[in-house]
Amino acid sequence: MPRVLAITSEKGGVGKSTLAVHLAGAFAERGLATVLIDEDGRVGSSLRWAARAEDGLGLPVLAPDDVKPKRLAAADVAVIDTEGRPKRKELRRLSERADLILVPSGVSALELDSTRELLDFLTGEGVGSAGGRKARIVLTRVPPVGRAGEDARENLRDEGLTVCNTLVRQYAAYQKAAESGTLARDVRDARARVAWADILALSRELL
Ligand SMILES: Nc1ncnc2c1ncn2[C@@H]1O[C@H](COP(=O)(O)OP(=O)(O)O)[C@@H](O)[C@H]1O
Ligand SMILES: [Mg+2]
Repeated sequence: MPRVLAITSEKGGVGKSTLAVHLAGAFAERGLATVLIDEDGRVGSSLRWAARAEDGLGLPVLAPDDVKPKRLAAADVAVIDTEGRPKRKELRRLSERADLILVPSGVSALELDSTRELLDFLTGEGVGSAGGRKARIVLTRVPPVGRAGEDARENLRDEGLTVCNTLVRQYAAYQKAAESGTLARDVRDARARVAWADILALSRELL
């Protein structure tokens, strides 16, 4: 069975779909058989992303109903993009299915607070401890200039939370990628390579 990575957050618009699409793309580039599952029923953003280009992502993006057990069993990794503001019950179910829950978060005080809340809930569910640090924060949309990302990472770690080392920085290449249905790696942008390097580093940290 594949390693299942679920990406969720307390808020919408934090960068879940961007992260899901790009991480899946990075795993695929590294030669891992990867499926991206879009469980954001309302918006379906990973699916829509992939639909914008003919072969934009180069990996299967599936709606939950299209996930056949056989197909899943053949994969090395499954990345699940979820809806924002999931109900507690859905979170609980997600934590049972996933090997790792990634919680993307911006570095603003407001976003960090709602991220802490979500991590508290997951820890209460035994996700943090029983699963062996199963929930991890990914700091994303981090200003490339300054130390806001490093500071947030240090503060969260001081609080005992697990934070990925890689900071996913804020670059226009991600928006361009979303618009064209591809990956930041493949857009024409001066920072495309740096953006992709962040994603590759994160993918190596995870798997
Ligand atoms: N690292 C990043 N750098 C720049 N823009 C980003 C980054 N991550 C996400 N975004 C932008 O933020 C917005 C919300 O991202 P999205 O992935 O759709 O969030 P969610 O799936 O959590 O709702 C989009 O416009 C997206 O292009
Ligand atoms: Mg989304």
